[in-house]
Amino acid sequence: MKDSNFLKENNARSLWHPMVHPAESHAAPPTIVTGASGVRITDLDGHEVIDAVGGLWNVNLGFSCQPVKDAIAAQLDRLPYYSIFRGTSNEAVIRLAEELRAFFAPDGLSRAFFTSGGSDSVESALRLARQYHKIRGETGRVKYLSLKKGYHGTHTGAASVNGNANFRTQYEPLLPGCHHIPAPYTYRNPFGETDPARLAQLCLSALEDEIAFQGAGTIAAFIMEPILGAGGVIPPHESFMPGVREICTRHGILLIADEVITAFGRTGSWTGSRLWGVQPDMACTAKAITNGYFPFGAVMIADAVAETFEKDETGRGAIGHGYTYSGHPVGAAAALACLAETQRLNVPENAAARGAQMHAGLLALQQRHAAVGDVRGGHGLMNALELVSDRAARTPIDKASIGRVQEAAYRAGAMIRVSGPNIILSPPLVVTEADVDVILGALDTGLAALD
Ligand SMILES: Cc1ncc(COP(=O)(O)O)c(C=O)c1O
Repeated sequence: MKDSNFLKENNARSLWHPMVHPAESHAAPPTIVTGASGVRITDLDGHEVIDAVGGLWNVNLGFSCQPVKDAIAAQLDRLPYYSIFRGTSNEAVIRLAEELRAFFAPDGLSRAFFTSGGSDSVESALRLARQYHKIRGETGRVKYLSLKKGYHGTHTGAASVNGNANFRTQYEPLLPGCHHIPAPYTYRNPFGETDPARLAQLCLSALEDEIAFQGAGTIAAFIMEPILGAGGVIPPHESFMPGVREICTRHGILLIADEVITAFGRTGSWTGSRLWGVQPDMACTAKAITNGYFPFGAVMIADAVAETFEKDETGRGAIGHGYTYSGHPVGAAAALACLAETQRLNVPENAAARGAQMHAGLLALQQRHAAVGDVRGGHGLMNALELVSDRAARTPIDKASIGRVQEAAYRAGAMIRVSGPNIILSPPLVVTEADVDVILGALDTGLAALD
């Protein structure tokens, strides 16, 4: 490793970081992470903290998951790369598809289309949805519906269904035919409704209204996260996703579950769709599929959708889509090991217990700190605080102040993620009770920096 002076002097000098103004990276250089072990990361100055971000919602099994590391190393020796475009395949990807088929059977999903990450998975699902309707002769079904506040990645297709202006405005015009309905976000919504069940019904009515306005025969798919993640952890009322499922089915619209965060245990259930008792037509996965150790993803496809392609005799079912790294053997080997370890450890159980502890702790922090406007979570290890400068007026906190909270929490032992006025908490699913206490204590210290 280069000496620390070199790294500090050149930090952010010759690279652009995603999701930040380049000038900001110069003014406040990023933390240089040099190592990690278990659920902890260490920076260049030797400061060690619990990673309450879990990498980026993906290092579900922590940083020391030896079976995944071993699988990657062994696969690199055996077959470091080969494409699965027409005519070739590999052992790891065949085995993985069978394992995923078994894992997602309760969700009604049986075929896998492999990708290199979450945005790729979303792009693939959106494209396959249009193709599905074209194979069936419904060529006019080309539009997409989604939720405001939703996050689906940053490819142009994904950004077009994204529900946050930060990822859209500077890149417009985006894909035509993408329309958004209000999210079931009780703290702020256009209906002024705070009751989760009533708000869910209002959002479902808005969906019905938009479908009637656009014309059901023009809509290919509705895409949603079972629990909205990057938008600030917004768990909908339990009636919401089943309601979406019913409306989509009635109108012949495919339901795409964006499970890039929620698949593989984070919500305390094996998948987000299963949490709500819904079977989607497709599910986008990535992130924790390899514990973050290799860029990889999969779109899982329901039987009925798959059979439309497989039984097609017109040629329209030929898949004109895919990536050089679709079905990468090293990624597939990592995913196989990760899936086995995820199931062996039964991670949803710990996610549910530690998530409940975290949620209760955050509610207690709200009692102590006026800046905590809203606490969201209650379903596994997806939790968030929305900070305000005035609780009664719900005025979003400014960037500098929330930055002070983050810095003080980091000094006190936890890496937390700031997104707008939200503090998002998504630690590895293997955190212990004591780890969660450390995170809560660090947050308490962080919030005290505002007093
Ligand atoms: C729900 C969801 N979909 C898609 C993505 C995009 O994934 P990636 O950053 O791997 O492209 C993310 C990333 O956070 C996500 O949270």
